[in-house]
Amino acid sequence: MKSQTRSTKTTAKKTTAKKKSLKTYTFKNSQKLFQRALKVIPCGIYGHFSPAPLIPATSYPFYAERAKGSHFWDVDGNEFIDYMCAYGPMVLGYNHPGVDQAAMKQLKRGNCITAPTREMVELAEQLVDLNTAADWAFFAKNGGDVVNQSIMLARAATGRTKMMLVKGGYHGVSSWMQGPGHYGVVEQDCASNVYVDWNNIQQVENAVSQHRGEIAAFLATPYHHPTFGDSELPADGYWQKIRQICDREGIVLIIDDVRCGFRIDMRGSHEYFGFKPDLACYCKAIGNGYPISALVGREELKTYAAKVFYTGSYWFSSVPMAAAIACMKEMKKINAPRVMIKQGKKLWDGIAKMADGYGYDMKVSGMASMPTLRITNDPSMMLHQDWCAEATRRGAYFTSHHNWFISAAHTDTDIKKTLDIADEAFKAVKKKYGDEY
Ligand SMILES: Cc1ncc(COP(=O)(O)O)c(C=O)c1O
Repeated sequence: MKSQTRSTKTTAKKTTAKKKSLKTYTFKNSQKLFQRALKVIPCGIYGHFSPAPLIPATSYPFYAERAKGSHFWDVDGNEFIDYMCAYGPMVLGYNHPGVDQAAMKQLKRGNCITAPTREMVELAEQLVDLNTAADWAFFAKNGGDVVNQSIMLARAATGRTKMMLVKGGYHGVSSWMQGPGHYGVVEQDCASNVYVDWNNIQQVENAVSQHRGEIAAFLATPYHHPTFGDSELPADGYWQKIRQICDREGIVLIIDDVRCGFRIDMRGSHEYFGFKPDLACYCKAIGNGYPISALVGREELKTYAAKVFYTGSYWFSSVPMAAAIACMKEMKKINAPRVMIKQGKKLWDGIAKMADGYGYDMKVSGMASMPTLRITNDPSMMLHQDWCAEATRRGAYFTSHHNWFISAAHTDTDIKKTLDIADEAFKAVKKKYGDEY
């Protein structure tokens, strides 16, 4: 390799240019704003945007100024290639012209009105045409809204109380979703939860026989993507076996496709894994950042979706619906999941290969459009956290304890630049840790 790069003057020049270090960012304005926020907002920034899991927090921006395509700029003027995509909603690129135009056109006509607009019907028709689990569609705002609703429907349909959940799965912030031991959650809130390990059919069978006739729903994500852990795809035949058990026992099979939805298969992630759920929950990518979520389901459950009273002040707003119509059309046109998987694979393969050159083992798990990365050499995660932070300080926004997201707007130029940044980040951690790992 060395002799190749030194073989001609031009290549030598290129090599020198490449070796010029990238600027490392500082976050003065972010920190100042955060100090102001701490006085008037609980913990400054709460929920999944909280800086708590960003380690060291001094290497991350806390506030964004603007965004475009696959990039965002923070309040210090730093530019980032974004590998969190607003934690999933950004799928076609920030400020996508087609989606924004549809939203703005609708905004001029009216958004939150006393009656729904025709966009609601069109969006439902579009989802029913597209999604193979959908005979009908119901709209809300957040992912948690529709997951909650799916459980109410399953209970109404079965007359049962309990729900089977996968340990470590995330479905939102309702007390039953958070589980025992979290602040503000009491034991009673979780009394109906029956937990099983991911990919463990025997545990599902055991739970079914222990609670026979009591379980209303089996609820899980298409594959397991826990925070603070590697992602795990379903074992061969897993979903088919779950489908059989649910049919045999009269349990409603709910897929929480809030995070994976439109990043694996346009027809619903269940198609990729070869099964059909009874109910499926969508949010995040459906409107490219405009606030909307959807529950879709089988014809037989439509009556219960009509009977269960479920609504919200902004659930009929037509701007997000117009945005979602445009977003889904565009995603379908370009086969967005395929684009993201292809671009993702290029990048993660490149990073893993690069890590190898530095003597690090980079484990990449989950789907290429939203993978989890982890340097396995250091089980304490310090090395991995530092590598992510070093990359972020140079313009590739990487988090260390959550899966990443790629969008259809991530270009080959982005990927090339990200690989250069990743390389510098590897050099920085190698310098810090030497041969410790
Ligand atoms: C799999 C899954 N389900 C449900 C939710 C909850 O969605 P929301 O935060 O929009 O309520 C999330 C959010 O990250 C999620 O990833």
